[in-house]
Formats: sequence, C-alpha cells, structure tokens
Amino acid sequence: MGKSVIVINGPNLNLLGKREPEIYGSTTLADIEALTRAHGENIDIETIFFQSNQEGDLVDAIQRAGASHSGIILNAAAYTHTSVALHDAIKACGLPVIEVHLSNIFSREEFRHHSYISSVAAGVICGFGAKGYVLALDALADIID
Ligand code: DQA
Repeated sequence: MGKSVIVINGPNLNLLGKREPEIYGSTTLADIEALTRAHGENIDIETIFFQSNQEGDLVDAIQRAGASHSGIILNAAAYTHTSVALHDAIKACGLPVIEVHLSNIFSREEFRHHSYISSVAAGVICGFGAKGYVLALDALADIID
C-alpha cells in the first residue's frame, strides 16, 4: 500500500486569499492544496485534504485518520490556542502530526504564543506561508519511512 497523509485545516482557512492578506498573503487554500499535492506526487505520497470550521469535525477527522493514513499535517488555526479536545485526539490517534501555521505565531499577539497542539506534535513549522505545508510533507515522509 502507498503512503497517504491527510492535511487538516481548521477555521477560517477556507477564506485564505481574501482573509487578512497582509498577514496570510494572496494564496488560497486551493493553491495550498495544489502545491502540496504536487509535492506529494514527486515524493510518492498521496495527500488528502480536509477543512472545517467546526472543532468536533476536526476531532472526527483526526480519529478517522488512523484507518487510512500514516500521518497528519494539521493547521488547527484558532483552535490551536484553545482546544484541549484536539490535543487529546492527537494523543489518542497514534499517528505523527506536524503542526503548521502560515504566519509566525510567535511574532504576533501573545494569545497566539501558546499551542495545545505543539506538545503532542512530532514537530512545528510556522512562518513560511504555503511552503510550510511542503516542508511538513518532507518531514512526515522521513518519519513514516
Ligand atoms: C494560523 C495562526 C492562528 O493563530 C490563526 O488563528 C489562524 C491561522 C496560521 O496559519 O498562521 O487562523 O494557524
């Protein structure tokens, strides 16, 4: 069976391109998907994409991931800073998770400096825009090899 990774994006990331372009740039979520998928094809990893604005849907996606994927790339967006439920879901799922943020959360407001995801993630990539997803895929490729 080939390797498969799920890329999970949280709330408001469906608005990328229109949302606060001075912070997030003009890249849309569809652009990020295309970029990440193309890189996945180059390194022989299937990439599946999921986005939701609902916390419980993100928990469900993490719970389901174990059945068909070998790793998760997660941009939990604002839930990064609030969600014990996502923290627990990651712990329970047993898959390696790479936490991604487009922006450098540490150079922004203080409430973004704490992440409930980081302590249960295999690693964190932030501040590199859409490229962060590609970097995360390379990192996961090494881990699940
Ligand atoms: C974000 C950073 C979060 O603080 C914010 O709530 C987001 C996007 C990022 O990708 O930079 O929605 O996760």
